[in-house]
Amino acid sequence: MNLRVDSKDTYDQFSKECLSNNFDFWMKRSRLFSWFKEPETVLTGEFSKGNIKWFEDGQLNITVNALDRHVKKNPDKIAIHWEPNDPAEPIKTFTYKEVLENVCKFANVLKDHDVKKGDRVCFYMSMVPELLFGVLACARIGAIHSVVFGGFSAKALSERINDCEASVVVTVNEGPRGNKTIPLEEITKEALETCKSVKHTFVLKRTNKKSSSEFKQLNGLLDSAGSECEPEVMNAEDPLFILYTSGSTGKPKGLLHTTAGYMTWAAETYKNVFQANDNDIFWCSADIGWITGHSYIAYGPMLNGSTQVMFEGIPTFPDAGRFWQVIDKYKVTHFYTAPTAIRALQACDERFVDQADLSSLKVLGTVGEPINEEAWHWYHTKIGKELCPIVDTWWQTETGGIMISSMAGITPSIPCQATTPLPGIVPELVDNEGRVIEEQEAEGNLCISIPWPGMARTIYGDHERYLQTYFSTYEGKYFTGDGAKRDLVGNYRITGRVDDVINVSGHRIGTAEVEDAINEHEQIVESAVIGFAHDIKGQGLFAFVIGDESKSDDDLLSSVNLEITKQIGPIAKLDGLVVVPGLPKTRSGKIMRRVLRKVHEGNLDQLGDTSTLLNPEVVEIIIKKMRK
Ligand code: PRX
Repeated sequence: MNLRVDSKDTYDQFSKECLSNNFDFWMKRSRLFSWFKEPETVLTGEFSKGNIKWFEDGQLNITVNALDRHVKKNPDKIAIHWEPNDPAEPIKTFTYKEVLENVCKFANVLKDHDVKKGDRVCFYMSMVPELLFGVLACARIGAIHSVVFGGFSAKALSERINDCEASVVVTVNEGPRGNKTIPLEEITKEALETCKSVKHTFVLKRTNKKSSSEFKQLNGLLDSAGSECEPEVMNAEDPLFILYTSGSTGKPKGLLHTTAGYMTWAAETYKNVFQANDNDIFWCSADIGWITGHSYIAYGPMLNGSTQVMFEGIPTFPDAGRFWQVIDKYKVTHFYTAPTAIRALQACDERFVDQADLSSLKVLGTVGEPINEEAWHWYHTKIGKELCPIVDTWWQTETGGIMISSMAGITPSIPCQATTPLPGIVPELVDNEGRVIEEQEAEGNLCISIPWPGMARTIYGDHERYLQTYFSTYEGKYFTGDGAKRDLVGNYRITGRVDDVINVSGHRIGTAEVEDAINEHEQIVESAVIGFAHDIKGQGLFAFVIGDESKSDDDLLSSVNLEITKQIGPIAKLDGLVVVPGLPKTRSGKIMRRVLRKVHEGNLDQLGDTSTLLNPEVVEIIIKKMRK
């Protein structure tokens, strides 16, 4: 019994069943896992107050479910095919038994350095197998992992280490990425100058470069560590990990996920959405530094005993055929990637696709941002040969796993639509006044009206901000920050963020965060950042800045981008800027980014009434400057 959605009828039945008896529905699913103590409760707490507990009295360890139970049944099944950045380097393959041994070794190294249940361990690494082992090692001993994407700057890293008071940091000497190497150890060294909580820092030697710091050398420690480690008994609601994401203020939010609910959601969503079978090969091209890599590399596929590819590289190295070569090499059946990568590869020579045999593919997936028609059709036709359903999966760091998506081959894929909610998810569209829109065909702000197991329980160290951000806009509901359209038969199309968050290449970037970074530039007094439609990245970043008007915009752009790279990392670099004498503001001093967006788009007839602004004259000047 795996309770998988295996037909349109079971989808309808499960969706109904969950609504009419949520308790039984989730209780049955909880029994699919291995527990030290099976839970008797399902859901407690109060959703509308942002206080939710799932399976609260259960005790378990997630790694027993992701590893030990598969090792018992099928120890030699391949868990991971690791594909290095450079295809000339040797690949690595790990069976479930070997992953468990490696996880235990890592866990023992952490224990030997006094890491205990509840301690925070920060990973700042490239996509090496040891990142996966380290994350699962934390889960093995009850430490809380916090993975920081290797593209963040020293300052961003230190902010994240300090926010959760991590006592351990794990990095690599260098992270190969395309034809570059990212000096992760150097960056960590710089970050640690301002981190008081850190007691131990480990560095893994990934390349030949000699380590330049006093950090503990991980390779030797792992080699000599014992390969068995008893799993820590965890309560269902014990924290599993923290993952930082951007919000509408400058300070990143550390979303906290807990053990049993997250496990259930990652496992169930992987199983139902992708419909992978025992012999299938799953490949999610995300980095473990983002939630997609947590739920659909580190946890979802492992909890289901799948075989997967873990990829260290980038789509265009050594050439733009790399994704397709990797699919061919491992005979990947399920491929999950971001629209931005699809658009970038679509723009390359078709020969790169044609040279690879993609006949192993059965299911394609997208995640992270809305996909445009053209990219969807190219993915469907050129990559999937019109044979593979596409699952357009809508979800967020906060939701822990997929929320709205078709289920491969079970419910219909519709171009550019996430389609229908997973069983147990109840989306609602709400208008700006907070009224639930009852009409079936509608557009509004997307909320979720009942709890689901995978939801983040809090923002680490700031429950007030959690309540404020997600539960205060629309009473009694979780507000996603996204807008959506619903059609007559109940399919959802996500239209994008409705708050001050911009989605660049599938990565969430807060306007306030970028503005704070720009304002650190010595020639800039104030700035306003907007998102605009970008052919490859989905959205690009553009800034209106008040500053030194004697400099050309281009000169200023490069030096501002250096500042952003220093403050946040290259992922938040601007695509353009213009120097302006003032920013349009309301009488209460709020910057009218909407007006700036319209000016940038050239939609001057949609500016609205600017006469009520504090400084309406500035809009005319900005329009003139943009025309130049
Ligand atoms: O705006 C939505 C967009 O990505 C946001 C969540 O970003 P993050 O927490 O970084 O997680 C990304 C990976 C799950 C959402 O608020 N988004 C995510 N998936 C889709 C999407 N927009 C449209 N369609 C999607 N399939």
